[in-house]
Amino acid sequence: MRHRLRSVPLLWRVSLANATVLVVATTALVVAPGVTVSIPIKLTELVILVSGMVVMMVLSVLLVRPAFGPLHTVADAMRGWDPLAPGARVPVVGGPDVATLARTFNEMLERLEAERRESARQALRVQEGERTRVARELHDEVGQTLTAMMLQIESLAAKIPQELRDELDELRETTRLGATDVRRIAVRLRPEALEDLGLPSALSALATSFGEHAKLHIDRRLARVDALSEEQELVIYRVAQEALTNVARHARAGSVELSLEQAAGVVTLRVCDDGRGLPSDSPASTTGIRGMRERAMLIGAELSILSPERGGTEVILRVPLEER
Ligand SMILES: Nc1ncnc2c1ncn2[C@@H]1O[C@H](COP(=O)(O)OP(=O)(O)O)[C@@H](O)[C@H]1O
Ligand SMILES: [Mg+2]
Repeated sequence: MRHRLRSVPLLWRVSLANATVLVVATTALVVAPGVTVSIPIKLTELVILVSGMVVMMVLSVLLVRPAFGPLHTVADAMRGWDPLAPGARVPVVGGPDVATLARTFNEMLERLEAERRESARQALRVQEGERTRVARELHDEVGQTLTAMMLQIESLAAKIPQELRDELDELRETTRLGATDVRRIAVRLRPEALEDLGLPSALSALATSFGEHAKLHIDRRLARVDALSEEQELVIYRVAQEALTNVARHARAGSVELSLEQAAGVVTLRVCDDGRGLPSDSPASTTGIRGMRERAMLIGAELSILSPERGGTEVILRVPLEER
């Protein structure tokens, strides 16, 4: 009976409830002894009429209310939908109207998510392309210029008087530092190691360069993982890079743990620090964290960033391997 009732359209349920109340009221009027209305109305009659009306109203609210319950369920689910954590769907509940609404909403989500994935992919492709170009120009142009300068300084060293030697040495050191910086920036822009050596080695190189630069101890546990797509590798690398940058920038940590492992068809990247943890009022979407979530979304990975009880911050990226 309940099930039958649930499949009745909303309009009919409301009309049915109202009709029931009217029928009951009319029947009561007809069969109840002594229900009369005089003109002008007597006080007792007025009391009976008003009480009857209140009972009718309460009855109709009680009968109609269950039909609207599913609407609230659907609305709550819609409100809770997070564009950066796709995949969640509204439950298909209630009568045919509400169920149709929920189903249509889910279909719309499907289209929106597909569109969003595609535009995020395009934006990231453009960004990676641009980074490659900048890295190449830095390496080929600024890098070459600095190398040429070093050679010029070397040849100058033999010709200048003794008292200028110290200054020339300083110049040589500055130039060498400049060349190192350019190389480091170029590598950060374009992780060539990723293509040449594979993900674990590229992550290891990243950790080494970070550890040196930020004067941090990075404990690494990088296991070999099954073949990932180029896109998945780049996402994991970029998330590790941003997480490490955040540690250096915000955490004031003493040590960091970087791990990559594979279990049950899922590759997990973990970056944990023992620093001061995320601020409690941290804004929902800032550039760096948003970028990580966007990249994770692209490859259907799950990203969680939280501060565990024991302190510090934990960034965990779980990438499901494609089934083959
Ligand atoms: N490892 C961390 N330890 C402490 N706070 C962090 C850490 N990572 C991120 N945060 C906090 O989260 C905020 C957002 O990070 P992010 O989106 O990367 O932006 P940005 O690094 O540009 O400030 C940071 O400003 C910082 O307050
Ligand atoms: Mg950041």
